Amino acid sequence: MSSNEDLIGRSNVNDIEAILSVANTDVEAVVHAVRSAPDTLFTWDYDRTKPALVKLYEKAKTSQWNVETDIDWSIDVDQEKVVLANVAQAQENGGGFFSGSVDLSGTDFAKWTDKEWIQLGIESQNWTLSQFMHGEQGALICTAQIVQTVPWIDAKYYASTQVMDEARHVEVFAKYLDTKLSGHYPINAHLQMLLDDIITDARWDMTYLGMQIMVEGLALAAFGFMHQMTTEPLLKRILRYVMSDEARHVAFGVLSLQDFYAELSSAEIRERQEFAFEAAVRMRDRFLQQEVWERMGVDVKQAVQLVMRDDTRQLFQSALFSKIVPNCKKLGLLDAADGWLRQRFTELGVIGFEDWADTGEEYIALDEVAKDREAAVAG
Ligand SMILES: [Fe+2]
Ligand SMILES: [Fe+2]
Repeated sequence: MSSNEDLIGRSNVNDIEAILSVANTDVEAVVHAVRSAPDTLFTWDYDRTKPALVKLYEKAKTSQWNVETDIDWSIDVDQEKVVLANVAQAQENGGGFFSGSVDLSGTDFAKWTDKEWIQLGIESQNWTLSQFMHGEQGALICTAQIVQTVPWIDAKYYASTQVMDEARHVEVFAKYLDTKLSGHYPINAHLQMLLDDIITDARWDMTYLGMQIMVEGLALAAFGFMHQMTTEPLLKRILRYVMSDEARHVAFGVLSLQDFYAELSSAEIRERQEFAFEAAVRMRDRFLQQEVWERMGVDVKQAVQLVMRDDTRQLFQSALFSKIVPNCKKLGLLDAADGWLRQRFTELGVIGFEDWADTGEEYIALDEVAKDREAAVAG
């Protein structure tokens, strides 16, 4: 049985000092090397035995899109105006970056004027889109690895389309950051740790669990919220298309792992539960956006404490798990091995999502690329 110490490097999940002690110390590096040596599997069985994956693969072939020609890059983005619109919306709801319930008196923030709050909005946006871009590269690399390691031909076919999707996602976020926003951030250390752990695990299903179920499950929820909230038409369009792809990717994880996990021993399932828990904690840690607080020149620990004390922000952050928890349930990970993962997700405050829609079929409804094409033909 692994302890918290073994799994996440600290005994208390909310230990702020320990969370902040993990930082990216190599921000100038251009390459990051990870040693991984999973078995590469050829298969000589070319029979199409996984109908759900066949269907997904066909969908992926027809719903490809092109960053250069399907996105209207002539749309101008005034980042300060976008931030001001967000601030106005938050104020209407009784708060700003923090909700009205948080007392800022005596903190660094008490001295802030509009100028600093706007700058925070700009930095937060640059940071958020940068982390998405890095995460997309993680997905690109993980999925290329799945092509290599998964034993079924239907999964190799499908994964190859996802590799193309992820290249497109890295491309689209990089282009948006470079041409419409105002600066990149290096990868957050918690996100890097998670990606490294996923890539170095030699078991092919762990790549799926870490990437397709956890990282992409969270990304799908995050893109959904951002798509709902943003008033910026270019980003809205980009997210709409990226989500069409991501819904397929999460479905790929659910559809591939479902039968496989049904055959595993309880000791093997427990290892998967522990990996899911570790991934959940890393992603929660990364959302504290410690690099933004540093750049804004405020006391990082104080800022993170305020974020953790802000009920509205906590509610929002737990909602990022609204796809992950039902998918883990569908895979049988919540209640196996005496409900170990159920207990951990309860402690993290995310168990309430267990009966939300899982993502095995949702990709059909979310295919906005197909909808636009049908509308164009009909039009
Ligand atoms: Fe992606
Ligand atoms: Fe993806």
